[in-house]
Amino acid sequence: MANSPTRFRVRRLARGASAVLAAMGLALAAGSAQASAAGQSVFTEQKCDTCHAVPAVGIEAKVKSAKMQGPDLPTGSLSQEIERLTRVVQQEEQTNGKKHPKKFTGSDEELAALFSWLSQLDAEPAPGASAE
Ligand code: HEC
Repeated sequence: MANSPTRFRVRRLARGASAVLAAMGLALAAGSAQASAAGQSVFTEQKCDTCHAVPAVGIEAKVKSAKMQGPDLPTGSLSQEIERLTRVVQQEEQTNGKKHPKKFTGSDEELAALFSWLSQLDAEPAPGASAE
């Protein structure tokens, strides 16, 4: 998949949050299964799982201190807030006057894959989760 035309277009488009959204659309069109797998590896490679659990796929937060942990992801409203959250995880925007504790250091493509994966999970309730 590394040199596929879609990846090339994604790279050229990937500039800022709105481009991240455009890239996500392309990633989804290219095949959601591939996008999912890529997003999950970005999540663990970027060590997001230090502080965040992803219950839908059985990822547990590595830190046990509740003070350090972030919310379980996705939060249920994540897919409505992707633009803001991409800025938050790049420490370009604060939440309630605080920076997100970790800065995302990967590429724009990786960020797009990550949020594409999380928003897909957001759309599907976690197994065993009760419908609200
Ligand atoms: C050192 C611990 C830590 C790491 C590592 C970490 N986070 Fe967080 N994260 C938090 C905390 C604490 C919050 C809640 C406070 C905040 O929103 O800034 C949070 C909030 C978030 C939110 C907002 C949830 C919401 O809707 O309010 C998202 C999305 C998120 N993190 C994604 C990530 C991603 C993606 C990574 C990996 C690049 C990551 N986090 C790495 C601790 C962490």
